[in-house]
Amino acid sequence: MHHQWLLLAACFWVIFMFMVASKFITLTFKDPDVYGVKQEPLMLTAMTKVEKIQVPEEKRLPEESQLGSWTSAPSDARWDEDGQPVVGKEQPTGKVISEDLMHQSLVHVKRIELLSNVCRDTALRNLSHTTISKFVLDRIFVCDKHKILFCQTPKVGNTQWKKVLIVLNGAFSSIDEIPENIVHDHEKNGLPRLSSFSDSEIQKRLNLYFKFFIVRDPFERLISAFKDKFVHNPRFEPWYRHEIAPGIIRKYRKNRTETRGLQFEDFVRYLGDPNHRWLDVQFGDHIIHWVTYVELCAPCEIRYSVIGHHETLEDDAPYILKEAGIDHLVSYPTIPPGITVYNKTKVEHYFSGISKRDIRRLYARFEGDFKLFGYREPDFLLN
Ligand SMILES: *[C@@H]1O[C@H](CO)[C@@H](O)[C@H](O)[C@H]1NC(C)=O
Ligand SMILES: *[C@@H]1O[C@H](CO)[C@@H](O)[C@H](O)[C@H]1NC(C)=O
Ligand SMILES: *[C@@H]1O[C@H](CO)[C@@H](O)[C@H](O)[C@H]1NC(C)=O
Repeated sequence: MHHQWLLLAACFWVIFMFMVASKFITLTFKDPDVYGVKQEPLMLTAMTKVEKIQVPEEKRLPEESQLGSWTSAPSDARWDEDGQPVVGKEQPTGKVISEDLMHQSLVHVKRIELLSNVCRDTALRNLSHTTISKFVLDRIFVCDKHKILFCQTPKVGNTQWKKVLIVLNGAFSSIDEIPENIVHDHEKNGLPRLSSFSDSEIQKRLNLYFKFFIVRDPFERLISAFKDKFVHNPRFEPWYRHEIAPGIIRKYRKNRTETRGLQFEDFVRYLGDPNHRWLDVQFGDHIIHWVTYVELCAPCEIRYSVIGHHETLEDDAPYILKEAGIDHLVSYPTIPPGITVYNKTKVEHYFSGISKRDIRRLYARFEGDFKLFGYREPDFLLN
């Protein structure tokens, strides 16, 4: 491990000195069509970064966005306590600042390294591996123009990313123009699913494109899904309360005299049941809101370029835009301080009163997601 960091640091230094001395900028790495830039996260992107550091300050500032940057979207530039975008009028001002590129790329190299180590751990094999099925290919959206694949992980603020890809694909000229009901309508929004391509076209894109997705603490995500689908249901999707909730209650409610709608406890018992698949099949694709990241995105089968963390979105969003080569086209709205931070109080509140046995069973199912993405085991809930 240490040797690898030292070697990497040495590489950065040598390249940096070389560039300062000769003022030589390798045009090769500027060519967006060189697949290598997106394929080899370690060395080639490192060079790209050093090259960017050499560019004079004015040139690194984002151009006046032809998309009307995300910040000018009147519809959803605000965020609620779950980090979900909410409708509002007040707009924060957006900006892309590259703080410490070397530190950033080390963070991401480490994340990918952890991921591949956990993928190789045979004890976790069942929790970290899945097949690249149609279900997975349905989760991945394609931006051919900029050679980007984005795997959707609901409840992690994905709508913003989808909107930007829709605009980059050209169906709409700015984010403001995308009607709310079109964002998730993939027949009409010009953002195709990877599953809509032939096998060879799928393989080509998986091999060559920049691939990313976003994760957050797995239990916080489940709380967010529960609130969004069964408590608030802001998009008026009646089937969650009228079909799915009764189905879960029938099988998992302990207290038969309890007549309230779906409680978090019922939800936890369903998710932690090793035989949950029996109900999953009946619920169809709606399960995307609570199945594991492993089942959604196949992170051990597909070699993702970057995995963003909701908890560090302030750093990760601009990094992803830069790595995907679209930072000159879009910027990310300023995220209000504290909004993406893990809220232990909230997690404790939701799990209070739920039996340790049920929580441990839930953790047993989601352990792969915790380990693969470096989330700490929630020992305050398990012991
Ligand atoms: C993994 O899954 C296989 C097939 O479903 C099963 O036979 C095996 O016991 C599981 N292994 C572990 C460690 O759970
Ligand atoms: C069952 O639910 C009812 C109605 O909410 C409640 O009054 C009762 O205390 C609950 N029983 C147990 C054992 O939790
Ligand atoms: C954490 O969640 C609790 C309960 O939902 C809430 O009252 C509190 O304001 C949240 N804390 C932060 C820092 O967001």
